[in-house]
Amino acid sequence: MFGLHVPNGLLFSVFLLLLLAAWLYSGRRSNNDGKNLKNAIAYRDVSFLIKPYQQLGDNPKLKPMESVQLLWHTAENARNWQVQLKVQGDADWRPPVSVSGTVVDIAKLGKHLHFRACLDNIPPGATFEYRLLVDGANAFAGLGKARAGVDQPYKAIIAGDLGKSAEGDMQPVAYRIGALLPDVLIVVGDVVYDRGRVSEYLEDIFAIYNHNWSNPKRGAPILRSTIVLPVPGNHDVALPSPESKRDFQRFEDLLGYYLFWDLPMHGPQRMGAANAPALDGDQASIDRFLTAAGDRFPRTGCYSFDWGNSHWTMLDSNAYMNWGDKDLVAWLENDLGSAQDATWRFVVYHHPSFSSDGKHADEQRMRLLAPILERMKVDVVFTGHNHCYERSRPIRFLPDHLEQGTALHTEDCAVPGSFQLDEQYDGFMHTKPQGVIYLVDGAAGAKFYPHSQPEQLKDFSEVYDQSQHSVTKITVDGKRFTAVQVGADGAEIDRFMIDKN
Ligand SMILES: [Fe+2]
Repeated sequence: MFGLHVPNGLLFSVFLLLLLAAWLYSGRRSNNDGKNLKNAIAYRDVSFLIKPYQQLGDNPKLKPMESVQLLWHTAENARNWQVQLKVQGDADWRPPVSVSGTVVDIAKLGKHLHFRACLDNIPPGATFEYRLLVDGANAFAGLGKARAGVDQPYKAIIAGDLGKSAEGDMQPVAYRIGALLPDVLIVVGDVVYDRGRVSEYLEDIFAIYNHNWSNPKRGAPILRSTIVLPVPGNHDVALPSPESKRDFQRFEDLLGYYLFWDLPMHGPQRMGAANAPALDGDQASIDRFLTAAGDRFPRTGCYSFDWGNSHWTMLDSNAYMNWGDKDLVAWLENDLGSAQDATWRFVVYHHPSFSSDGKHADEQRMRLLAPILERMKVDVVFTGHNHCYERSRPIRFLPDHLEQGTALHTEDCAVPGSFQLDEQYDGFMHTKPQGVIYLVDGAAGAKFYPHSQPEQLKDFSEVYDQSQHSVTKITVDGKRFTAVQVGADGAEIDRFMIDKN
């Protein structure tokens, strides 16, 4: 007599709810697989144009209490956003941090809101959780780790030439990087292909490197949990050829690098042609870009930062840069000169000074800086551009007849000179290099060029690998530096050590 009559519509709704619950549960499960605690789950439907991602912001120097910038883009204006932080050791969520939203107009995204929250007052090296609330309800959550202090070890991944998602090589590399749980990810240029467009950021880097799940076919939630610090490669600044204009007539959404990466702002100011890519084409699109990029263009092309006991100098090596220009050289010398107390000095740029790979054999203009890097006691230089992994012997190099002021902002420019190679150093038993070690780290997703593989390695080359896509994992622990080249399948491809004890 109390038989329950359940309408079909209600049954269907219950079924949908069960499906949703199962999906959320499986999502949480997969997030915690492999102790990958950095993964996050969005559990309220919010239309992000770009999901939250972490950045260092304009904080080149270590701070007694660290901060992390959290950025996201959305079209939703009316909602009340809050961000809360719970740092390792906190009993509960802290009171909401302030969130600032500005209207930005970016090609392919249109007019929308760009939000920013500063997660601050975090002890160096501490892990933290954050959550975004919309109108009081959870909308997004993530984990992170503050920059290491001067006495703390850290782990970084260095990767370059990330490729395109459509070709399917990007996803397994992103997955591998996520599985290695770096404290910081450094991209040696060619972040997106082919032209550094906003549309390419949306399709590739934001889709794959900030995917909800860790999956070799999809990507990994890296950007939301890890600070990423890039340099611009040739594909990031529109076209490979320096003669090619950054043509806003043809592509209205160029130079996404300067729109999305929130980096230290102490790079060289605009110096005419010496350090700024020329913009051409539709003036309205150019003005739209310049307004959205603000001071980031072109300042964030070069910058530096400290992490742990290391100083990292990040340079734009594109062909419009004239690294014979005395003001640019002075900026570099001043930057490295001020970091002589750091235990380690690392330099990052896209175009390799030394590589056996045949693809960009004559693009040697960055060799001009070799004497400065040696004099300033740089330990390792990380580059990309050639789609391979290559490790040099410790090098001391003196260009033959190039003097300061020589304009080298051309693409193909051989720089002959004399080499002094440390043949003793092996990175295993002999771990005190006499000279600078140069890595080519361009094997992180872009397609390989079998025809460019060298039949014979140059004398300065120790290891060359194009067997599979790979990234460099470094561990800096006091006076010991260890680098491991890790394949997308997890295999170890190379390993070397530098010991300053
Ligand atoms: Fe490149």
